[in-house]
Amino acid sequence: MNLLDYLPVVPDFPKPGIMFRDISPLLANAAAFKEATHQLAQISQDLEFTHLLGIESRGFIFGAALANELSKPLILARKPNKLPLDVHQESYGLEYGTDLLEMQKTILPTDAKVLLIDDVLATGGTLLASAKLVEKSGATVAGAITLLEISFLAGMQKLANQGVVAKSVLQ
Ligand code: PRP
Ligand code: MG
Repeated sequence: MNLLDYLPVVPDFPKPGIMFRDISPLLANAAAFKEATHQLAQISQDLEFTHLLGIESRGFIFGAALANELSKPLILARKPNKLPLDVHQESYGLEYGTDLLEMQKTILPTDAKVLLIDDVLATGGTLLASAKLVEKSGATVAGAITLLEISFLAGMQKLANQGVVAKSVLQ
């Protein structure tokens, strides 16, 4: 099975010039979703981590599936004003616009080794902001994994420059 067949490109969405990868067909096919989860588990194998951090919103889907597959705890990095209690905040630039991510201040133990998970690595802004949230908690970033990397945007290099090892199932 070629997972890329289930991730069609939609040109000019959500803005002109953006080549959007739609994960809906992959999720709508049980075998493809299962295979994607297995392959995410495989690339996480040689990373040592205690927790997964899923990033709203598409990162929640793969983060939840992988957390269950690996029996690891799942932490949420959320868009603004969604989480109760005190939160750490990080703003970031997206391929299209800017946004803010939040994580609860006391949800991670300081000895946690956290693997970040999202659907797509584009510019790397989202994963970098998530890494900073983990560091603000005093925990350690174990790495970052995504289903797909959009290589020409060089997000993996941007993360590597900040000491975050990123891996992707698909390019
Ligand atoms: C998309 C995608 C990644 C991010 C990748 O999320 O799901 O999280 O962009 O881009 P980057 O590497 O340039 O930061 P988006 O913020 O569009 O929202 P969604 O997950 O809620 O759909
Ligand atoms: Mg996202």
